[in-house]
Amino acid sequence: MRIILIGFGNLGKGLARIFVDKADFLRKTYGLVPHVVAVADERGAAMDENGLNLSKLLKVAEKKSVAAYEGGKRGKMALEVIEDMEADVVYELTPTNIKNGEPGFTHIKRAMLTGKHVITSNKGPLVVAFGELDSLARKCGVEFRYSASVGGAIPVINLARRLLAGNEIREVCGVLNGTTNYILTRMSTEGVPFEIVLREAQELGIAEKDPTLDIRGIDTACKITILANSILGIDAKLEHVKVTGIDRISSEAIRLAREAGQTIKLVGVARRGSLEVGPRLVPFGHPLAVGGTLNAVKFELDLAREITITGFGAGPQETSSSLLGDLIDIHRTLGG
Ligand code: HSE
Repeated sequence: MRIILIGFGNLGKGLARIFVDKADFLRKTYGLVPHVVAVADERGAAMDENGLNLSKLLKVAEKKSVAAYEGGKRGKMALEVIEDMEADVVYELTPTNIKNGEPGFTHIKRAMLTGKHVITSNKGPLVVAFGELDSLARKCGVEFRYSASVGGAIPVINLARRLLAGNEIREVCGVLNGTTNYILTRMSTEGVPFEIVLREAQELGIAEKDPTLDIRGIDTACKITILANSILGIDAKLEHVKVTGIDRISSEAIRLAREAGQTIKLVGVARRGSLEVGPRLVPFGHPLAVGGTLNAVKFELDLAREITITGFGAGPQETSSSLLGDLIDIHRTLGG
């Protein structure tokens, strides 16, 4: 499969590393050989229609733009690469922009219009124009996958849409942001100050490029919007979500909660008629009382009643699990 990667930050690099490490496994198990024919970052692009040497590219990208790879080009190259390179799949992995979804929104549209399947973790285009992108994919006859946009490694969307397909989903709620969960957990268990833990979360590569999106609950609200659209069939926009972040949660509040056998979690809830995000008291031992960078998502269903799924909700390697899963799924569905 010929692949274009747009965006080469933590996630793009993480995925490229997995392609290198799992090359034998992918070929032997699925007959899948991912040829990455182009990679674009903010400053340029590396291209080779026979497939880039990803180990070399990762070395180059440690210090410089991918444009420094042999034969690379400087400048804003993403659209040019999407249009000009022959490829089966475009991974759109640029940072989330909740105002207008750009540049990811245009990248995704251009990929679809040029007949390429799209896999993305980028929440911006999904919250700005879920319906438009979903119908454009259908119109263009391409696959559009975004498993990595909610829950990191946890297959939240696929679980709901495939394995729970016979259920009416009455509510989905959960701890959907690894950064704030990490911060709240460390503040609660070790009393580490907010600013220090935030810096640690950034070093772990789990925080958004603009971490206020995490802290103010916007990232969770994006995920609630995506879940409302993709699994509840609600035409929801980000502004429909009532949001409170964790920026006003004091160490004192966390301590008092702890003494009462409770923990404070940033919880998102989506049900028909109500979409909200805010800090909630959760008793220790409750399925949503997960620690560290873990996420937990609870479905309320008519047949299955209740299902909770837990796992790592952020991090380049963990998120690659979903990004790669989407590729394998497209390969299995369509061949190639
Ligand atoms: N910043 C996000 C988080 C990344 O902390 O959960 C995964 O969406």
